[in-house]
Order: sequence, then C-alpha cells, then structure tokens
Amino acid sequence: MAGGSIRDRLRELAPTISVGVLTADLLSLGTELALLEEAGARLIHVDVMDGCFCPAMTVGPPFIKAIKTSLLKDVHLMIEQPLGKVGDYVAAGADMVTVHVEAGRHIHRVLQVLGTMTNANDSSRGVLRGLAVNPGTPLETVRPLLSELEMVTLLAVNPGWSGQRFIVSTQQRLQELWAMIHRAGRDILVAVDGGVTKENVGDIAQMGADIIVTGSAVFDGKAPKENAEFMLRTISAATQVKG
Ligand code: DX5
Ligand code: ZN
Repeated sequence: MAGGSIRDRLRELAPTISVGVLTADLLSLGTELALLEEAGARLIHVDVMDGCFCPAMTVGPPFIKAIKTSLLKDVHLMIEQPLGKVGDYVAAGADMVTVHVEAGRHIHRVLQVLGTMTNANDSSRGVLRGLAVNPGTPLETVRPLLSELEMVTLLAVNPGWSGQRFIVSTQQRLQELWAMIHRAGRDILVAVDGGVTKENVGDIAQMGADIIVTGSAVFDGKAPKENAEFMLRTISAATQVKG
C-alpha cells in the first residue's frame, strides 16, 4: 500500500511548501500550526536527527504523535540504520517518511517495508516514501531505488548544522534528477530541503521543485503566518504559466 494517493494529493498542491516546525514556538505549537493552516500551508516538516547520522539530536515518535493537526506530517529521518525504526514513525502518524540514501546498508529494503505500511491517520491509504540525498552524494545512488519511492529530496544544506546558505549546485542536481526520473518513466515528486529564504524561494520554485522545505524563514519568531503566505504567493507567482 505505497503512498500513491498522498503523492497524487501533493501533485495537486505542487509546487508548495513543507514547513519545518522545529524553529516554531514549541510551547505554543498548536497555535503556530493553526497560523500555518490559515496561511494555506498543507504540510509540516519534522526533522528527526539521532546525533549519529548528523551531529544534532532533535525529536522522535512521541513528538510526532503529540502533534494534532490536519496538515500532512512530512517526517525527515536523519537517522542511522532506519530499517527497524520507520514503523515507529508511521505508527506515530507520519504521512510521509523520508530516509537518507546514506543512512544504511539496506535502504531498498527500508523502502519496500515502508511500502507495505498503512497510514495511521487513514487506514485507506499508505505512507508516502521519500529518499533524501546529501549535497555530496552522487545522484547515481538514487537510480536503483526509483521503483520503490514517491519522492526524492535534495538536501541543499549539510543536515544537522543550522544557519547554512543554500548550496548553489542544487540547481544542477535538480536538473539531473529530473532527467533520471523522466528516463525511468516514473511519477516521482522532487523536494528541496534547506537554506530556503524569502529571497530565493521564487528561484527554487522556478528550478522545478514540487515541495520546498523551509523552516527558519517561516518560523522566524516574528510573523509565521505572513511568512508562509509570502512564500506561497512568491512560489505561485514564480511558476505561473506565462500566458
Ligand atoms: C537539514 C534539515 C532542513 C533544515 C531546514 O538540517 O533537513 O529541514 O533544517 O531548515 P531551514 O529552512 O531553516 O534551513
Ligand atoms: Zn528536513
């Protein structure tokens, strides 16, 4: 039961943002998420880090389970050896689970297992399977996995360190990835994650990203709703088909 129906829903919404919640006011997360909904955001992005795959440690399944929202939960696992762990995130209510191609010996198996899982929020659908690739990892590693996923995410920063700038070579990698997906004849969403700002979000949308992950540029401690509205407006304007 792969995540085809979620992919189809995201295809309708794309290009759109997936908002990183770890820079939100976590003591008022319900209020913060309501502001995102009012702004028209439809996805929240939860960065799970285990302190082994990358230096930082963040949250786990209990945090995801505690989030009560109608927004789609896009869970980015920056964890080592995810095979025996992904089930906990699905049970906690993840709608989308992204694992790193660098995270273990059996990533094809992880994606196969994810493809059999039922969405805890809606038993009629599966979980969307994502594969994330660090900036230094050759895209060739993705090719053998294309038949076992619904989304590929290009990291535009090195995961685990905050305040980084968008890595410019991501644009070339996006084009290479699109060509690979097109040659494979598969319906796969492409996401970009990291270093997204109000200044570059329009350019990134024009590069062809379906899902643009942005955290601190929305939850900046000042005006998350207005920031999210700005991002969505900018993406829409940047991708309007010229009449
Ligand atoms: C890598 C994470 C990203 C990152 C995004 O560290 O996968 O989601 O935190 O955060 P911003 O948008 O603040 O760069
Ligand atoms: Zn992320």
